[in-house]
Amino acid sequence: MKTNIAVFFGGRSVEHEISVISALQAINAFDSDKYEVVPIYISKQGRWYTGPELLDLKNYKDLKALTHKATEVYMRPEYGDFNLYKAASGGFFSKGNQVVAELHAAVPVLHGTNVEDGIFQGVLETIGLPFAGCNTLSSANGMDKITMKMILRANGVPVVDYVWFTDKQWFSQRDALVEKIEKELGYPVIVKPANLGSSVGISKAADRDELLKAIDNAERFSQRIIVEKMVVKLKEINCSVLGEADECEASVCEEPVKTGDFLSYEDKYMGGSKSAKGMQASERRIPADLPSEVSERIRKMAKETFRVLSCHGVSRIDVMIDEADGSIYVNEINTIPGSLSFYLWEASGVKFPQLMDRLVALALKRKREADRKTFTYDQNIFALGGGVKGAKGGKK
Ligand SMILES: Nc1ncnc2c1ncn2[C@@H]1O[C@H](COP(=O)(O)OP(=O)(O)O)[C@@H](O)[C@H]1O
Ligand SMILES: [Mg+2]
Repeated sequence: MKTNIAVFFGGRSVEHEISVISALQAINAFDSDKYEVVPIYISKQGRWYTGPELLDLKNYKDLKALTHKATEVYMRPEYGDFNLYKAASGGFFSKGNQVVAELHAAVPVLHGTNVEDGIFQGVLETIGLPFAGCNTLSSANGMDKITMKMILRANGVPVVDYVWFTDKQWFSQRDALVEKIEKELGYPVIVKPANLGSSVGISKAADRDELLKAIDNAERFSQRIIVEKMVVKLKEINCSVLGEADECEASVCEEPVKTGDFLSYEDKYMGGSKSAKGMQASERRIPADLPSEVSERIRKMAKETFRVLSCHGVSRIDVMIDEADGSIYVNEINTIPGSLSFYLWEASGVKFPQLMDRLVALALKRKREADRKTFTYDQNIFALGGGVKGAKGGKK
């Protein structure tokens, strides 16, 4: 019997299109002798669709036509119901609730806010369907650039100095915050919304004027803002980690090639052009040209990041080398990396189909382990007698 895998992609995120590319790559990588892959596309409106038309990248040029042709589906938020249902369409008397597929596991290939940050993972955890990658907690911690840095710093993983605040604080105490930033960080700094990706809303500020503009810009995207000390002589290195928090391995390191001040959306995903070939096409040096002790340090740091954030599956950890003094800082973790970082694993001796095997096996293992933990809620306190009155503070 084949394992039925739902690959979720798209979603209400600025990285919607990137996710489509990553997901089609992943779907093609599954060994079709072992798996039945069910593509589930989440539209920009948040509706779910399945169907063979989702497998052709060309069809995404016209999203309206695509979702019209595909079959709208849903899952019930009920623990243990792993059925994918056809949504009722065409009015009151149409037939809904037909089971389209019975799923065994899910592989979310989703990037960005609402889908990589634990919000979507919470849906899967509610249903109890085994799924690949970080759980709700570690997804949320990994996505928020502020929370992530707090956790890393508290665990001795080096991160750049930063100041963070909310949009409301920015409106009410602008002067005090500017003073704090100038005192603690100085210039230049990098201003970021806490929870987006693909460099959206990020800008550099070399003086107070630019700082005000940069924060006003970042504030349009997020309620939480982080201002970081800028690494001026920057070399960026990425490293992927695969496994479980307590038992994981690091890939070879890559150096993404940058143009301009920092990697823009185009550099990252379009190879600097509009070719839309995905991460694979973007220019990168694999393995990165580094002294072996530096790449070893980075790989260790990547694994430590994965561990302290309690990650699972495949992540990519992006680090910054300050070439002025050789310091290395963790910049961020991507808990669902573009193209699932398959190109780093291929360069490390793990083929893409094997990567998908590993992700599914890890998902099933985590589920088995979770099921072994003891919960006590199946005991009915009301039926025990005696305890109920006292629990509600009633008279003895
Ligand atoms: N503290 C920093 N110093 C120098 N450059 C930075 C710093 N933080 C980010 N950058 C540059 O900005 C890019 C995007 O920032 P990052 O935090 O990775 O956001 P995203 O989630 O959008 O990828 C990085 O790849 C890097 O080039
Ligand atoms: Mg980044």
